[in-house]
Amino acid sequence: AKARFLSTMSHEIRNALSPIIGSVGLLAMEEDSLTPSQRELIELLEFSSHTLHTLLDEVLDYGKLEAGKVYLEEIPVDLRSLTEKVIQIHQPLASKKQLQLVKQVDTTLPEKVLGDPTRLTQILSNLLTNAIKFTQQGSVSLSVGLLETTPERYRLRFEVQDTGIGIPEESLKQIFEEYSQASLDTTRKFKGTGLGLAIVHLLLSLHQSQIFVESQQGQGSRFYFDIAFPKTV
Ligand SMILES: Nc1ncnc2c1ncn2[C@@H]1O[C@H](COP(=O)(O)OP(=O)(O)OP(=O)(O)O)[C@@H](O)[C@H]1O
Ligand SMILES: [Mg+2]
Repeated sequence: AKARFLSTMSHEIRNALSPIIGSVGLLAMEEDSLTPSQRELIELLEFSSHTLHTLLDEVLDYGKLEAGKVYLEEIPVDLRSLTEKVIQIHQPLASKKQLQLVKQVDTTLPEKVLGDPTRLTQILSNLLTNAIKFTQQGSVSLSVGLLETTPERYRLRFEVQDTGIGIPEESLKQIFEEYSQASLDTTRKFKGTGLGLAIVHLLLSLHQSQIFVESQQGQGSRFYFDIAFPKTV
């Protein structure tokens, strides 16, 4: 009942937010007739309303995942262009923090596999968002490698590695739980809800897979998982 209430509320709030986002967007286009301070305020409004929208989407999506109502698609996916797209999405944030964003894709990778591009993008995005968020300097890399080919499937390994703040040993187990963050000051310093990795965890179990992490405080973190994708015919 509580989950239901939460998702109904989120849904209503999100609906109410849409016209706000629309109007703010229109206002922002009136650039020429705005004073600099008005423009600044509108930018802030745009940013906050988008953040709120994403947050509500996350809560809604998580509710749906938890209720077991998310099903994976199986369509041909070009992993090279998918990873390229994911990298492109995160490039602006990485550049802003002067982080190097690296993509490493095995040359032996199959051209297409059968999978769910939306959910795979979501998994990689959540990991990359974290890697960038928790890294002050250095690099963030996304790698995809071919582990094994069987008559029906390709087994692939995905890795997101960073040179960021790392995760204390005692928190490593909890970070995949919902609303859990490594330390109390994480919430203050980095914001967020603590849903990203819980979503990754649930999405990977739909793929009969799980996520692993290796991390050293102050040195960085490495998240990785394997997925067996059916071959396209
Ligand atoms: N790459 C990383 N480096 C260091 N700490 C990390 C990294 N990824 C995750 N964490 C730790 O794990 C916690 C949980 O991550 P998760 O993505 O679930 O939540 P969040 O990023 O805090 O919030 P949200 O994803 O909902 O915006 C983070 O708060 C952080 O403490
Ligand atoms: Mg996150």
